[in-house]
Amino acid sequence: MAELSVLVLAAGKGTRMKSALPKVLHPLAGRTLIGHVLATAGTLSPARVVVVLADGMNDVAREVHRPIPRARIVIQEPQLGTGHAVMVAREALGPTGAVLVLYGDTPLTSRETLLRLLAAQEGRAAAVLGFRPPESSGYGRLRMDGERLVAIVEERHADERLKREGLCNAGIMALAADKLGTLLDALPLREEKGEYYLTDLIEHAVARGWPCAAIEGPWEDGIGINSQEQRARAEAILQNRLRRRAMESGVIMIAPESVFLAADTWLAPDVLIEPNVVFGPGVRVGRGARILAFSHLEGAVIGEGARIGPFARLRPGTTVGAGAHIGNFVEAKNAALGDGAKANHLSYLGDSEIGAGANIGAGTITCNYDGFEKHRTTIGEYAFIGSNAALVAPVTVGAGAIVGAGSVIGDDVPDDAVAVARSEQQTRPGAAKRYRDRRAKRRETD
Ligand code: UD1
Ligand code: CA
Repeated sequence: MAELSVLVLAAGKGTRMKSALPKVLHPLAGRTLIGHVLATAGTLSPARVVVVLADGMNDVAREVHRPIPRARIVIQEPQLGTGHAVMVAREALGPTGAVLVLYGDTPLTSRETLLRLLAAQEGRAAAVLGFRPPESSGYGRLRMDGERLVAIVEERHADERLKREGLCNAGIMALAADKLGTLLDALPLREEKGEYYLTDLIEHAVARGWPCAAIEGPWEDGIGINSQEQRARAEAILQNRLRRRAMESGVIMIAPESVFLAADTWLAPDVLIEPNVVFGPGVRVGRGARILAFSHLEGAVIGEGARIGPFARLRPGTTVGAGAHIGNFVEAKNAALGDGAKANHLSYLGDSEIGAGANIGAGTITCNYDGFEKHRTTIGEYAFIGSNAALVAPVTVGAGAIVGAGSVIGDDVPDDAVAVARSEQQTRPGAAKRYRDRRAKRRETD
């Protein structure tokens, strides 16, 4: 394949989202819109990646550099349209090979579709991705002459016949780098919006006798996100793709439509997922593990055969060993549970290390925060923590040690020791009856 430059346009304000968050930072399956575009672009091993942003979009620049540190950011100020955005980036692009123009708001295009588009462009000035969405308003239309693409017509200029043909412009194009300069120089300023349209480039190429092509991709690949409703629709499409992929690899999903995955969720074969489970980014689940209903997992690694939930919350930095159990209303954050460890009910495990086979009783809390800093709790292998214990970090409970129920433990407990830290019990025989009799007498005299 010829040298490839990827150009991502993302300077638009995204006003139709009605949000303070830049459009391309809106989430889709636990990743930003532009994160999806960059992830797919990265699989094409481009020689360079250039991203067009508006002034002050520092959060977006950071999001770009996370996956692709060498990406070049070009600032477009003011934003005079998609054609203008490419003009601004021209110097940063390679002089030869192909330039693949992607939109930061078009996240679902697959690698296969992009490869097809690049193949269609070879030997031509341009190839454009066409698609037929069920809801086509807002998209430009491709005017074809047989196999040849002759123009892209913005919706407001398209006649009824062209609209009825229904082939829409996804905005994604592959362009011959050596012809790009000539074509950009020919773009007119469209008075109606005061913008340069990248789409006008096709007509100019055809006028010069440079042939252009279009391919038709799956309609999901072309959808652009301009509003919250479109974002939600894209989310539904992507969730279905991710669920299907998981089930195809052997994951058991009782009610897949109620399970929400992140783009990077990794589930081994024979993982069982009950209804109403949400995966945030960064989760890996080992073979045979079960994630029971109403659990929420993010940034967690679950070992083979482990059991999570129902109603568990695993936060970033949590690792759960093979065969370990995390039960209902247990929250873990930055906690490592060894193989076979159990925390079955109503606990908070934060900044802690819990040895293999340890048993954490109901209601145990690791008190990891003193109002200023976080501290660690270490619990040894096969330790037994009685119910409702408060472990005031930093603290260590040794291997095989037992902590009595209701204890507040602030001092380290050595291996195999028993520690009980609670007030002594007083039992007064007959006192309850005497109390009741006293109350009854008072009621009579009232
Ligand atoms: C554009 C296309 C339309 C196509 C649709 C596909 C044009 C004129 N129209 O319309 O044919 O069907 O995409 O989704 O190209 N951007 C910049 N700088 C700008 C303007 C836009 O970087 O000055 C970026 C935006 O951030 C966005 C992308 O380019 O990522 C597309 O811009 P947008 O305004 O959403 O174009 P559409 O109206 O959707
Ligand atoms: Ca758009």
